[in-house]
Amino acid sequence: MKLAVSGKGGVGKTTFSALLARNLADQGNRVLAIDADPDANFASALGMPNAENITPIADMKDLIFERTEAKPGTVGGFFKLNPKVDDLPDALSTEMNNIKLMRLGSVKKGGSGCLCPESTLLRALVTHIVLLRNEFVVMDMEAGIEHLGRATAKAVNRLIVVVEPGRRSIDTADHIKKLASEIDIKNIAVVGNKIRGKKDEDFLKTHLSGFEFIGFLPYDDNLIEADLNGVSPFDTNSPSKTIVADMISKL
Ligand SMILES: Nc1ncnc2c1ncn2[C@@H]1O[C@H](COP(=O)(O)OP(=O)(O)OP(=O)(O)O)[C@@H](O)[C@H]1O
Ligand SMILES: [Mg+2]
Repeated sequence: MKLAVSGKGGVGKTTFSALLARNLADQGNRVLAIDADPDANFASALGMPNAENITPIADMKDLIFERTEAKPGTVGGFFKLNPKVDDLPDALSTEMNNIKLMRLGSVKKGGSGCLCPESTLLRALVTHIVLLRNEFVVMDMEAGIEHLGRATAKAVNRLIVVVEPGRRSIDTADHIKKLASEIDIKNIAVVGNKIRGKKDEDFLKTHLSGFEFIGFLPYDDNLIEADLNGVSPFDTNSPSKTIVADMISKL
């Protein structure tokens, strides 16, 4: 199963992705966790030691040169459009129990639709992972769906949009839905996070009536504390742990 997580900044994408990946691993599944948000730290939310020392693939200049035959940072020019990537998930991931993590990193964009060696390599890698890897994939993304393309659309089982009770997060969810429909991703679902009560749930259901909801996670100080202390939300006493475990059976 291939799951991609998106939503407005700060809504809880990384928290939810970590709870999802750790629960899946806990249930005995092998998980490939992809950190596709340039600013995110999925690794530390997963509870990986030395999380901050993991080099993003976009910064591996020698690798990008070796695989695309072009220097990172160049735009246009000649480079391989189908670089070899099938060995990368195993070679470049950091492992913890049943979870392998890869950090994609960020590509500096020059104008629209950057066609540069690093973005070509990342796109090829994500396509390979989504289409050909057979473990569970959990991809923590930014407020868009940058690394997904038409080729991967059918293989993404769910695009999960995390929302919080607030107008801006709803606008972002609508925007993500539009981006997704442009590349034919149809299986979108919503998770309501930071829910303080029935009023918050109703607010989201009313304003996102066109979405399928797969669940709600309560507002929880334990999750903030965990983040402050660099502890995985899965290693705290949070009701969200079991709520996410139950969600998995619905996916
Ligand atoms: N249910 C919740 N209750 C209270 N705080 C939460 C909850 N979920 C997440 N948080 C807190 O909200 C903050 C943002 O969470 P997180 O980093 O997971 O969001 P994000 O969407 O990944 O953010 P970014 O866009 O920066 O990547 C963190 O401090 C986290 O602990
Ligand atoms: Mg994040």
